[in-house]
Amino acid sequence: MTDTNLLSALMQRGADFLGTRHAIMAGAMSWVSERHLVSAMSNAGGFGVIACGAMTPELLDREIAATKALTAKPFGVNLITMHPDLSALIDVCASHDVGHVVLAGGLPPAGAIDRIKASGAKLLCFPPTLAFAKKLIRSGVDALVIEGMEAGGHIGPVSTSVLAQEMLPEIAAQVPVFVAGGIGRGEAIAGYLEMGAAGVQLGTRFVCASECIAHPNFKKAFIRASARDAVASVQIDPRLPVIPVRALKNAGGELFTAKQREVAQALDEGAIAMGEAQLQIEHYWAGALRRAVIDGDIEHGSLMAGQSVGMVTKEEPVADILAELIDQATAALERRAA
Ligand SMILES: Cc1cc2nc3c(=O)[nH]c(=O)nc-3n(C[C@H](O)[C@H](O)[C@H](O)COP(=O)(O)O)c2cc1C
Repeated sequence: MTDTNLLSALMQRGADFLGTRHAIMAGAMSWVSERHLVSAMSNAGGFGVIACGAMTPELLDREIAATKALTAKPFGVNLITMHPDLSALIDVCASHDVGHVVLAGGLPPAGAIDRIKASGAKLLCFPPTLAFAKKLIRSGVDALVIEGMEAGGHIGPVSTSVLAQEMLPEIAAQVPVFVAGGIGRGEAIAGYLEMGAAGVQLGTRFVCASECIAHPNFKKAFIRASARDAVASVQIDPRLPVIPVRALKNAGGELFTAKQREVAQALDEGAIAMGEAQLQIEHYWAGALRRAVIDGDIEHGSLMAGQSVGMVTKEEPVADILAELIDQATAALERRAA
C-alpha cells in the first residue's frame, strides 16, 4: 500500500459517509459558509456545509438552490437547534433532498431527530460529553462531530485532544466521528485518524479561501493574527450563562461585556425572562459577526476565529488548502511507516 493509499484507507469510512473523496469537512460558519465557499469545498473533493444561522426558511431555500447550481457534489446544511423556525428549516432541507443535516447549538428538540431522519438525510450532532454522545447514538444520530475549545465561534470548555482521547475509544466503532477544533495542518489530521476518527472538520483554515466571500478586512485580520489573539469571551454575570465564543481580540469584545451588563440588568429588573435574555445574547453575536464578515468592521464586529488562525498565512484557493493538508497528512503517515 502506498502512503497516499494509507491516508485514503484511514479516511475511507468518513469519505463513504460524506460521499466525498476526502473525509475533510469545512465546518459551517455563519455568514461565511454560503454558496461560494460551500460549493468550492465540495467541488475540491471535501465537504462543504451551509451555515443556516439566523436565515429564514425562504433564504435557506434560496441558498441551497444556489449552491446546487454551483456543485453537483454532496454538501450539508447546518441548523441551529434554538432557531424559532427549526421545523420549517428541516422541511426546506427535505424538499431539496439535502443528504446531510448538521444540528448545532445544544440538545436537539423532541421530534427534530426523527423528522430529519425521516427525510432520508444523515444527521450529525455535536456531543459536549461522552454521556451525551452515547445518548445521541441511542437516539439514532448517524455521525458525531467532537469539537474542542481551540475552535472558533461558540465553544465548550474541553480541549480537542482531551475530547478525542475520551470519546474516540468509546464511540468510534459505533458511528463515524469527525474531530474539530484547532486543526491547522495535515499532521494533526493524520494523528486523529490514527486515533480512530473517521475524518475531521476545520473552519478557521478556510476563512481566507479565495472563494470565501468574507470582507477583505476580515481576511486580513486572520492573516495578521497569531494563536494567542483568538481568545474566549468572558461571562460577567453568574446568573446569565453565556456560551463562550472564541474570537480575535478587538473593541467588539468590550461591547459584548457591555451587552451582557445590559441584559443582566434587564433580567434583574424582571423586564425579560432567562430564555429571552439568552436569545438576545445570541442575536448580539449574529449581528456582530455579520458586521465583521460582510461589512468589514473589524473593530466593532465579531472576529470569530480559532487558535489555528496563526497557521492562516495567505489567501488561496480552497483546492490548494485541501491539497496542502492532504500532502502534510500523507507525509506524516509516510514518516511513521518508515
Ligand atoms: C467565523 C466562524 C463562524 C462559525 N459559525 C458556526 C455556526 O454557525 N454553526 C456551527 O455549528 N459552527 C460554527 N463555527 C464552528 C465551525 O463550524 C468549526 O467547527 C470550527 O471552526 C472548527 O474549529 P477551527 O476553527 O479550529 O478549525 C464557526 C466558526 C467560525 C470561525
